[in-house]
Amino acid sequence: MRPVAHVLVTRQLPFPALDRLGIAHDLDVWPERLPPPPDELQRRAADAEGILSLLSDRIDEPLMAAAPELRAISNYAVGYDNIDLAAAAARGIRVGNTPDVLTDATADLAFALLLAVARKLPEAQRDVRAGNWLTWEPAHPLGQEVHGSTLGIIGYGRIGRAVAKRAEGFDMTVIHTGTPRAPGLSLEELLERSDFVSIHAPLTPETHHLIDAAALAGMRPSAILINTARGPLVDQQALIAALEHGTIAGAGLDVTDPEPVPADDPLLAAPNLIVLPHIGSATHTARGRMADMAVENLLAGLEGQPMPHQVTDDSQ
Ligand code: DGY
Repeated sequence: MRPVAHVLVTRQLPFPALDRLGIAHDLDVWPERLPPPPDELQRRAADAEGILSLLSDRIDEPLMAAAPELRAISNYAVGYDNIDLAAAAARGIRVGNTPDVLTDATADLAFALLLAVARKLPEAQRDVRAGNWLTWEPAHPLGQEVHGSTLGIIGYGRIGRAVAKRAEGFDMTVIHTGTPRAPGLSLEELLERSDFVSIHAPLTPETHHLIDAAALAGMRPSAILINTARGPLVDQQALIAALEHGTIAGAGLDVTDPEPVPADDPLLAAPNLIVLPHIGSATHTARGRMADMAVENLLAGLEGQPMPHQVTDDSQ
């Protein structure tokens, strides 16, 4: 019989996959709704051989140094910017993620945001609830035509391509920045030509604040920015200024910097903006399949086998 390993699971995952993990190994499941504070995370990781982490858990070098038995980290997310991959590689710790299974859910949400900002759904809904639906009005609220417009996609990986597929159904012209192996348009050209810009790039030191004041100034005044990737890809202060000054027409964010965004953050007072609480993958199907995949990764890693979805320092 294979030996039972001690595994830290940083949040309760209400999916059957966790039961499978619990049958094979000894689990320490963090019971709270909020993430474990960093010192508590490090304390609990000290004797862990495996960690099933969430994107809100920082798994850095000091944590790994304090966890000498650690040999497998499985992130319950496709993104893994919360994990120091170089530190993990240096210690021979395998790291896994959950690609593919959330692609469609996230692409759907990006498109939902695009449509909602373009057609001013929050304002329209507010009017109805406030008793401000007085009659059918010729010019209120007027939004932007999505059909036939140009969509610029930054980061043309799995999710970017899935968004492009949805755009085809709206007869949109899709342009993109390509992938590291097959580069497409320059960012400047894409921003200049797009009616809508949707971000699907990973967060790395190179992409931090990719959309800054200069990039926003390069967009059309009628353009709408959508971000369902990671908050720090956008310079949030620059975005607030761009919305306030009409440099761009609107934005839809599923991700912010920081997360959660405080309720009194000036971002939330910016005009023509929808902010969602990072729910791109939040469907029953996607989150359940992410749990399956995260558990498969962890089980393999604990056995000393390559994970089915293992990431490396150059996976970006
Ligand atoms: C991810 O998986 O990286 C998403 O941001 C959350 O599902």
